[in-house]
Amino acid sequence: MTEKNIILTGDRPTGRLHLGHYVGSLKRRVELQNSGKYDEINILIADDQALTDNADNPGKIRDNIVNVVLDYLSVGIDPAKTTICVQSALPALHALTFYYMNLVTTARLSRNPTIKAEIQMRGFSDEGLPAGFFTYPVSQTADITAFDANVVPVGEDQLPMLEQAREIVEKFNKIYGETLVMPKAMIPENEVQRRLPGVDGKAKMSKSLGNCIYLSDTAAAVKKQVNGKMYTDPLHLQISDPGHTEGNVVFTYLDALCTDDHFAEYLPDYKNLDEMKEHYRRGGLGDGVCKKFLINVLEETLNPIRTERAKWENDISSVYDIISSGTAKAVETTNATLARVRKAMRIDYFEDRSIIKEWETLLKNAKQ
Ligand code: TRP
Repeated sequence: MTEKNIILTGDRPTGRLHLGHYVGSLKRRVELQNSGKYDEINILIADDQALTDNADNPGKIRDNIVNVVLDYLSVGIDPAKTTICVQSALPALHALTFYYMNLVTTARLSRNPTIKAEIQMRGFSDEGLPAGFFTYPVSQTADITAFDANVVPVGEDQLPMLEQAREIVEKFNKIYGETLVMPKAMIPENEVQRRLPGVDGKAKMSKSLGNCIYLSDTAAAVKKQVNGKMYTDPLHLQISDPGHTEGNVVFTYLDALCTDDHFAEYLPDYKNLDEMKEHYRRGGLGDGVCKKFLINVLEETLNPIRTERAKWENDISSVYDIISSGTAKAVETTNATLARVRKAMRIDYFEDRSIIKEWETLLKNAKQ
């Protein structure tokens, strides 16, 4: 068994990635990638998992694979350092899922809080709940263990998935001997990273609420979202009134994104965000100035991403080659794990012919 530091993380390709993804996970993936601390970094485009609640619309998944890869590449995921691969093309994952299904009860699966919440969100009745969707935590365990990942960077909502994975690993190793690596979740460090609210202040950016800023949005679209949908402090009626920065979306976004350099460049009246907030609380700082600064900060963040995306959009055949070779590499990795698992379970019947002898002896002894 490996003692390497291996990362696996993944996304369902159901839409373009937005600023919430950037702040909550993409930015950190790039940092982890460039930290030099990991032996292997893998990102899985979880198209099979996306199909568990989109079986009637595979075209949506197919279309969004390219969008998600473009988002990865444009934020700085480097295919020379990070393996990007596609789940459905890794048959070992399907086999592992099938074996792990036997190590978990339906009662345990129904207690998973993330699944419970997702079932409710999608309005699935008991009758309408696809078995594939209900059991996707098992398939996610296959994803994680197939790569021997010990570190799994995910959002907080995924903690129950990791708990499930750890239980399956423990059970597997207990029954069949030490075979699988015990994974650990790595969650975002602070509150803003954990959950960047939508531009309307609602808990989360979501396509259906129309409150997202996408990484691929134009400058005009970003400006429109900020000026049109972001409320500030309802009690801050006049510029001279004291204002609140807590629960004020403009400041939440600044917390997530701005640096002291942004002040030097765009708002030199203040050295840093603390000074700016202090003035806002005291009164005398208008919302227009705050929003204008935020738009500048957003552009500093998004413009390089947009430029990089445009380059890749003009070279889709290279994008294809990147995921095709990443997937080929992942086929090797995951097949090796499956072979190890089959061996541990003693169902590796066709690895060599020694089982013939074993069966012969068995039959001979039965006759004595
Ligand atoms: N369930 C994850 C999500 O919705 C996506 C995912 C699939 C994943 N397989 C994974 C995340 C393996 C981490 C590891 O965001």
